[in-house]
Amino acid sequence: MTTPKRIAVVTGSNRGLGYAISRKLSDIGVHVILTSRKEAEGLAAKQQLANEGFDADYHLLDVTNDASVQQFTEWLRETYGKVDILVNNAGVNPTPKPEESSLLTVNLETMQTTFETNVLAVVRISQALIPLMKEQNYGRIVNISTEMASLTAISTDYYPLAPSYRLSKIGVNGITVILAKELQDTNILVNAYSPGWMKTDMGGENAPFTAEEGAETAIYLATLPDGGAQGKFFAEMRKFGGPVQVQW
Ligand SMILES: NC(=O)c1ccc[n+]([C@@H]2O[C@H](COP(=O)([O-])OP(=O)(O)OC[C@H]3O[C@@H](n4cnc5c(N)ncnc54)[C@H](OP(=O)(O)O)[C@@H]3O)[C@@H](O)[C@H]2O)c1
Repeated sequence: MTTPKRIAVVTGSNRGLGYAISRKLSDIGVHVILTSRKEAEGLAAKQQLANEGFDADYHLLDVTNDASVQQFTEWLRETYGKVDILVNNAGVNPTPKPEESSLLTVNLETMQTTFETNVLAVVRISQALIPLMKEQNYGRIVNISTEMASLTAISTDYYPLAPSYRLSKIGVNGITVILAKELQDTNILVNAYSPGWMKTDMGGENAPFTAEEGAETAIYLATLPDGGAQGKFFAEMRKFGGPVQVQW
């Protein structure tokens, strides 16, 4: 008898880190459902994976839109009846605009839209998909954060203050801890990690690492054994050669 494949949903997987995680998960035999808010770009990513020999599925998913998340969840239930892995990857970062670099000048509307995608959407997707995970008492949730969201780092590091982005990812870290607490009696493990500074549309050309390198920790967290880490914040594995926790 063959073991049924694990099913993974990766948000914002049409490019960047989301695509790299999808590719790596496919490579270890996970059945990936690519998702994106722009259908043509998502289908192009599916084709790109197919060209590399991977048979991923695709569905439209705008994480900030209630109807889109509901439609996606209904489709997922009807088509697969379960989800094993959820990677909350979709994100935005308005930092490059000068006025966005200080809490004293940050545009509150920008802050709001950043929170819509980076924080509220993670709650929305969690509310939609965790019930499916609970039905089989199995789930691995990987939240993409950043070391810039470490409260310890904020007071000491050299990164831009980037208040909208940093506060939104502090929100992601908070969601990780609260969800882990709520799920402590289940086999659903939720963790966050920092992929490091990567060459993507968000990270830019000067970043030292590729999205493929940044994806490594996601694979570790998406395939944790039963009883593995719960509610923890990890660094990029590339930097330390193995899983290392970041200070909150
Ligand atoms: N790059 C870095 O150095 C770095 C460092 C630390 C953490 N991160 C985090 O890593 C994650 C991926 O970033 P990236 O570097 O790969 O950036 P990216 O290339 O800009 O990709 C962001 C992805 O999120 C998607 N997205 C944004 N809003 C969405 C929505 N409402 N619904 C669905 N998808 C949406 C984008 O879709 P569209 O194509 O439609 O815009 C895109 O696929 C983010 O959470 C980011 O904060 C990145």
